Amino acid sequence: MTEETLKSAFDLCVSKTRLNIEAMVDHPTTWAFAQNGDYAAWPEGFFEIGNWTNSFFTGMAVLSWLDTKEPHFLKQLERIEPFYNAKVNVAIHAVETMHDIGFLYSLYSVALYKNTGDKRQRALGLRAAEVLVGRFVPEGNYIRAWGRMDEPDTDYAGLAIIDCMMNLPLLFWAAEETGDARFREIAIRHADTTLANFVRADDSVYHSFRFNADGSPKGGDNYCGRGIESHWARGTTWAMYGFAMAYRYTGDERYLDASLRVTRKFLSLLDDEVVPVWDFRLNPGEPLLRDSSAAAVAACALQELEALGKSEDAFGVAKDNLIARLCSEDYLNADPAVRGLLRDAEVGDGVGKARSAYTSWGDYYFMEALGRELGLAVNWW
Ligand code: GLY
Repeated sequence: MTEETLKSAFDLCVSKTRLNIEAMVDHPTTWAFAQNGDYAAWPEGFFEIGNWTNSFFTGMAVLSWLDTKEPHFLKQLERIEPFYNAKVNVAIHAVETMHDIGFLYSLYSVALYKNTGDKRQRALGLRAAEVLVGRFVPEGNYIRAWGRMDEPDTDYAGLAIIDCMMNLPLLFWAAEETGDARFREIAIRHADTTLANFVRADDSVYHSFRFNADGSPKGGDNYCGRGIESHWARGTTWAMYGFAMAYRYTGDERYLDASLRVTRKFLSLLDDEVVPVWDFRLNPGEPLLRDSSAAAVAACALQELEALGKSEDAFGVAKDNLIARLCSEDYLNADPAVRGLLRDAEVGDGVGKARSAYTSWGDYYFMEALGRELGLAVNWW
């Protein structure tokens, strides 16, 4: 792809973000995904326990600001600070949360602190890291994904999910920032548990894994892929990127090996469409729906491996193909009246939630991939 094509796609992301971030701050509900691209229509509030997505918009605003230096973006990010502050500092909100405060605060507080030096954002990011370590279950060495920690009798007790690898950078950053080794130790213990239980011998991954109350492993589970033993495409990309970053922070070759193994497996399963089928193990006859958001995360994971000097011949070609395919009109919606950028992502288990939707995370990782190709320094993970 030419730099001009990349820049034109990036500029489209900036122009949608210019409007989206202001609208999201004016009406800070949970902006997550939408089949018609209207993220503002999702009814849940910002403080809902399941909110893991608002920061994909703040992340896009930071990327936009880094590129344009327009004060508009920082102004909106400042306006929403009371919400992020309350989410981890008001007791009830800090209890009614989940592990994805890693996504939420890496893409808000860490990004702002690292790029503007704002010390309030440093404190907020560190507070979020404290809330996240409060979800660590020492008996099983994992960070519990969902549900209040004071509720042991729910379906979510004893549950960890592959996505959590993306929450570990907040802890690694907090350890570096404070010198408190506790954050790093918990990140490493969670990564080790994920490596031991989620990555299968054939290099596919489980979406979820359950642990008994004494911490012993119980077995695989699933909330996002087709089934427990299926191979959910986006979960694979969380593992590709998450293990690569765990390697960056620790130098532990086992994490690099895991990232490379799941990456090779993922790439071996792509077909001529380029964008992956949302789950590589669907039942016979099921429609081969695609997940553009998995393609976007995969591109970023391949860039991360490249930045670490660990890319392989096939990786560079695959990265270029993925980004080029997402930039085509089949996926990228240039209509300014539609908030969403990337069509055709899969949400939930393919039955509930949304099919062929626009997703905040697909849009964010697409923009991150474009930004990295154009030389922007993505320094918040
Ligand atoms: N973290 C939830 C998802 O990827 O759908």
